[in-house]
Amino acid sequence: MSFNKDFKPVALGDTNLFKPIKIGDCELQHRCVYPPLTRMRAAHPGNVPNKDWAAEYYDQRSKFPGSMLITEGAFISAQAGGYDNAPGIWSDEQVAEWKKIFAKVHENKSFLWVQLWALGYASYPDTMARDGLRYDAPSENPYMDAESKEKAKKANNPQHSLTKAEIKEYIDNYVKAAKNSLAAGADGVEIHSANGYLLNQFLDPNVNQRTDEYGGSIENRSRFALEVVDALVEAVGESKVGIRFSPYGTFNTMSGGAETGIVAQFAHIIGELEKRARAGKRLAYIHLVEPRVTNPFLTEGTGEYDDGTNDFVYSIWKGPIIRAGNLALHPEITTEMVKDDRTLCAFGRYWIANPDFVERVQKGLPLNKYNRDTFYKMSAEGYIDYPTYDEAVKLGY
Ligand code: PHB
Repeated sequence: MSFNKDFKPVALGDTNLFKPIKIGDCELQHRCVYPPLTRMRAAHPGNVPNKDWAAEYYDQRSKFPGSMLITEGAFISAQAGGYDNAPGIWSDEQVAEWKKIFAKVHENKSFLWVQLWALGYASYPDTMARDGLRYDAPSENPYMDAESKEKAKKANNPQHSLTKAEIKEYIDNYVKAAKNSLAAGADGVEIHSANGYLLNQFLDPNVNQRTDEYGGSIENRSRFALEVVDALVEAVGESKVGIRFSPYGTFNTMSGGAETGIVAQFAHIIGELEKRARAGKRLAYIHLVEPRVTNPFLTEGTGEYDDGTNDFVYSIWKGPIIRAGNLALHPEITTEMVKDDRTLCAFGRYWIANPDFVERVQKGLPLNKYNRDTFYKMSAEGYIDYPTYDEAVKLGY
């Protein structure tokens, strides 16, 4: 392993990125955010956070006091899941492990929010069938891709259009998972409504083909996510809730910028959030995936969508905004983004590979390269063995 020698580091310690900001009830000391990152180290069966490694992983990345981290997506229920090695936050055994993780991060005087996750059609129909679970989606069609359709057929678990009672059950499980998170010590929860997972599927005009009040119009497509927002605000308070969107994302067969109505759809739901804010219930933040990354599996600079921006969000939403998308190698873009005093920047891949990422950005130190092959590998390698800057120097990077 080595430093990324093509990157010329720039110290950002004197920019707004290192100005404190309050998010919800958390007094952050800077505006670098660790975004939710799937790592696939949880135990199967049970979707329990890794007992040997997970606490250390979050500990290493939260050493800079006053940092805000968001967990990898955590399933709100078994029915919302389907990836064997991603964690959940519905069972007592899962919560017991999460407790240890929150405690570590708090020892570092940093903050950890839980991303609440439901997969919808991005799940695996055969895995769900194995566990006696439905393969859920907004509507019976379209399938995400030909492979999912084939698997669903073989497993005799066809894509299932959620009934209204089942939507209600999901909302109840979001509430339970949020309460579990806070009771275990989390600082807040983030609703995952991005990257082509269940709530994003409901928002997408080409994926959601429902004809009831959850589909067929912009307002109807926003309904499920807004009902989740309202239920969580009621249950844990608006200062403990954030939400993530990826308007231009095409991962998991979302429409992205190819759909002329996509900005209108997101403008609507964000407008509804701002309405609630003006009525006294402002969510802690909105988290946006930038069109700089339309698919998280692509390497930096590929799959950028150049014909749209998230600027429209600023015209509507007047609260804090976290922006994510290939920013670690672009200090000039980061510096510009944080100028307005309500923007935070998320850094994923390079923070995975640099446990002391915040200090390196502050001081302009070189960055370790990341190894994509270990992003999802069930190993300590690539998870808790990336060196700090001093260690890297000793190792001859
Ligand atoms: C992934 O597991 O690759 C993944 C999970 C959640 C996302 C994006 C990607 O939002």
